[in-house]
Amino acid sequence: MENNLLSTNVAGLQLENPTILASGVLGYSAESLNRVAKGGAGGVVTKSIGIEPRVGYPNPTVVQAEAGIINAMGLPNPGIDVYAQEIKFCKTLLRVPVIVSVFGYSADEYATVAKKAVAAGADAVELNVSCPHVQFTGAEIGQNPKHLAEVVEKVKAAIGKPILVKLSPNVADITVTARAAVEAGADVLTAVNTLKAMAIDSETMRPILSNLKGGLSGPAVKPVALRCVYDVREALPDVPIIGCGGITDWKDAVEFMLAGASAVQVGTAIGLENPEVFQTITKGVEVYLRKKNYRSVKEIVNLAHRS
Ligand code: FUM
Repeated sequence: MENNLLSTNVAGLQLENPTILASGVLGYSAESLNRVAKGGAGGVVTKSIGIEPRVGYPNPTVVQAEAGIINAMGLPNPGIDVYAQEIKFCKTLLRVPVIVSVFGYSADEYATVAKKAVAAGADAVELNVSCPHVQFTGAEIGQNPKHLAEVVEKVKAAIGKPILVKLSPNVADITVTARAAVEAGADVLTAVNTLKAMAIDSETMRPILSNLKGGLSGPAVKPVALRCVYDVREALPDVPIIGCGGITDWKDAVEFMLAGASAVQVGTAIGLENPEVFQTITKGVEVYLRKKNYRSVKEIVNLAHRS
C-alpha cells in the first residue's frame, strides 16, 4: 500500500501514519515501544516519567468496566535519570518519533524532566497535566489555567522540541484550559486523558481500586473525547490536535480526524487486540480515503466543521 496517503506532520513531527501509542500502555521499555512501532504505530508516547522514581499504588490498580477499563497505577516510573537510558535505546531501535510523557509537582520539575528527556533524544514531550488521581500533579495542575500556563511556559523556555499538552476532560469547559496551554506556548494539544471514575464491589461493599478512584479509558469515553476534540477545534482553529479516548478501529480514527484531530492516540485497544491494532486501523483509514477519493489523510481533518 502507498504510504504517503497516510503520512502527516504534526508540529514538525513527521509521522508515516496518523496513529500514535498513547501514554500508559507498553511504554516502560525501548523493547516494548519497539514492539508497538513494529505493530504499525506512526509514533509512540512513553509512560509518564517524573524527576524521582515512584512506586505507584498497591494493587488492585486496574478494573474492567462495562465498555473500558478504570486504572489508577499512581504514575509508577523509574525517574528520568534511569529512564534516560531507555530513551537513548529507543533512538537506536525505533524509526518513529519518540514522545516522552513527563509529569512533575511544580513547573520547575516539569521543565527539568523535559530537558533531560530531550537531552536523551526525545523528539517531543507530552506534558501529563491530566492524570485524574495523583495529588499535587496531573489534573490538579491542568484543571487550573494559571498553573497550567506556568508549567507550559517553563517547559517552553527549557526545550526546543515540540510540546504536547495532554488535556483533562474533567473540566467544565475544555476550551479554557486548551486556550491557556496554547497561549503559554503549547505546540500540540492531546485531547483527552481519562475520565475520573470508580468501581464498587457489591459483595465486599468496598471500592475495588486501592486508590478508590481512577481514570476510565476505552470505548465508553469515545463520545466524550470526540466532543472535546470538536470543542477545542471550534475554539482554536489553528492548533494541531491529537485525538485520544476510546479509539479502537479505523472508523473511530476517521471520526476524530473529522472532528479536528491531525492524528490519534491508541491505548486501551492494544489490550483488547494487540500492537497490530495500529496496522488494522491505518489499513482501514487508507481504504476509507481511497473509497472517498482523498489523496491525503490531511484532507479529512476538520471536515465535520463545515456548515
Ligand atoms: O496511574 C497512572 O499512572 C495514570 C496516569 C494518567 O492517567 O495519566
